[in-house]
Amino acid sequence: MPKAVVVLASSNRDKLRELDSLFSPLGLEVLAGPSLGSLEVDETERTYVGNARLKARAWNGFTGLPALADDSGLEVQALGGAPGVLSARMGDDDAGRIAWLLEAMRGQRNRRACFVASLVLVAGDREWEATGVCWGMLTEEPRGEGGFGYDPLFIPDGETRTFAEMAGAEKARYSHRAKATRLLACRLDDPFVLQYLLDCNRTPLGGLDHESIP
Ligand code: IMP
Repeated sequence: MPKAVVVLASSNRDKLRELDSLFSPLGLEVLAGPSLGSLEVDETERTYVGNARLKARAWNGFTGLPALADDSGLEVQALGGAPGVLSARMGDDDAGRIAWLLEAMRGQRNRRACFVASLVLVAGDREWEATGVCWGMLTEEPRGEGGFGYDPLFIPDGETRTFAEMAGAEKARYSHRAKATRLLACRLDDPFVLQYLLDCNRTPLGGLDHESIP
C-alpha cells in the first residue's frame, strides 16, 4: 500500500524525525513543507491550537496536501501562565530566553511550570487536533547541554534531571510534544482515515461549487 504524504509546517529536523517515526507505521510519510516551497505564516492567535491551525491550514492551501503543524510553549504558575504562546519571543535566542526566565523567577518559591504542545492536521474538509502537557519544576540554575529552549531549567515530574541532561529518547518519555504526537497518532489509526488521506494526495477535495451548477 502506498504511503499518504503529509507536509509538516516546519523544517526542524528533530520534529520531523519524531513525527515521521510515529506516523510511519500508520502508513503516513511526513515531509518538511519548506522542501516544497517557502511560506511565511504569522502566529497571531492567542492559543497553541489556534496558531497550529493557522499554520496547518496555510500549508494545506499552499501545497494541496494534508498538512501538519505544531505550536508549543512554557507556562509558569508564579507568572500567571506566562510566557505561554509568547515563549519563543522572550529573547533573541535560547540563552536570552533562559536569562529572561531566571530573572522573572528570582526569589520565587513556587517553581511549578508545564510545557504544552498542540498539533493540528488539516486535509480536505477534515481537521484533527491533539494537545499534550508535561508538568515539572523550574531549577534556579541552568543544568545540562542537550535539548533546546528552556530545557536546561525544567525538571519533569518523576525525574531529578533537567530535560537538557537527558537524551532525546528519554525526554520523549515525558515530553508534551511526544504526548500530543501519540494522541494524534491514535486518532489517525483507522483504515478509513488513511484512505481519506491517500485520496487527499490524489485529488483536491474542495467539493462542487453549487453556484456553478446550471
Ligand atoms: P515553537 O512551538 O517551535 O514555536 O516553540 C515555542 C517556544 O517554546 C520555543 O522557542 C521554546 O522556547 C519553548 N519550547 C517549546 N517546547 C519546548 C521544549 O520541549 N523544550 C524547551 N523549550 C520549549
